[in-house]
Amino acid sequence: MRTYLITGGTDGIGKGLGLHFLARGDRLIAVGTNPAKGKALLAEAERLGAADRAHFLRADLSTLDGMRSVIAETEATVERLDGLVFATQRFRPHREETPDGFEYTFALSYLSRFVIGHALTGLLDRSETPVVFNLAGPGGLPGQIYWDDPQLHHGYTGKNASMQASRCNDLLGVDFPRRHSGTRIRYVLYNPMFVKTGMADPLPQPQRALTKTLAWLLAQRVDKAVVPMVDRIDHPPTEPVAAFRRRTPIPLTGKDFDLESADRLHGLTRELLDGR
Ligand SMILES: NC(=O)c1ccc[n+]([C@@H]2O[C@H](COP(=O)([O-])OP(=O)(O)OC[C@H]3O[C@@H](n4cnc5c(N)ncnc54)[C@H](OP(=O)(O)O)[C@@H]3O)[C@@H](O)[C@H]2O)c1
Repeated sequence: MRTYLITGGTDGIGKGLGLHFLARGDRLIAVGTNPAKGKALLAEAERLGAADRAHFLRADLSTLDGMRSVIAETEATVERLDGLVFATQRFRPHREETPDGFEYTFALSYLSRFVIGHALTGLLDRSETPVVFNLAGPGGLPGQIYWDDPQLHHGYTGKNASMQASRCNDLLGVDFPRRHSGTRIRYVLYNPMFVKTGMADPLPQPQRALTKTLAWLLAQRVDKAVVPMVDRIDHPPTEPVAAFRRRTPIPLTGKDFDLESADRLHGLTRELLDGR
């Protein structure tokens, strides 16, 4: 029996992966903020005969307290982690600040993955084939890191914030093995492309209606989208870090994966977390 921690495991792709793992006999800890979604997930787990293998952890991963509570609860609950899946997202059309003073998308979509991923390497390294599976947008739409204003005090748009988080995750991925020499962990950056989820719900109109229509026409169903992801998690690449757009490998070249920028981002992130 393998054990998976999935942030954003109560809806969309994260939930699809979690139910897949439960159905085949594995153990799941799913993190989200909404207790009703947590309850619905546990009800589905019961229908699969997996009630004793499914756990819902309520935590707001836009906050440092929430990130740390997930780390502490996981360490207290399991002795080994085989897979850590990052699948949280919540589009913010307007700039919002978390109680820690971070821009919301930066905190939820990047910082939580930095904090939780680095903290749980010990538990992951107890597995024979541990994987960190980071769902974001490698090789997708362009975007940039606003090095002089990463908290986007100026000129905020929800799209810029999401794309900045994706670029940060690219650098987090290539940097990760360098921070944990000798680790067995394989770090996979994965772009699922367009999948039918509740992703569009927080968008303002008319973008919401447009995105939902496009999703209805073009996006993959979650049960289909998770098939290549499960393959990747079960058979991780031999390299310490790799990136994929669905099944297509993405070369780790160019500025999105630049190691000097990865160093810079690691330093900047450590500074932001210093003393907190
Ligand atoms: N869907 C796509 O087309 C697409 C395309 C490219 C990349 N991706 C990536 O794939 C991943 C999954 O996307 P999705 O479309 O499946 O998302 P989704 O359906 O919107 O689900 C988001 C998940 O994140 C959780 N979440 C949101 N805010 C949270 C917070 N503050 N703290 C803790 N959990 C929180 C939600 O739970 P609660 O509601 O309970 O908080 C939910 O479980 C994301 O990383 C996304 O960037 C998706």
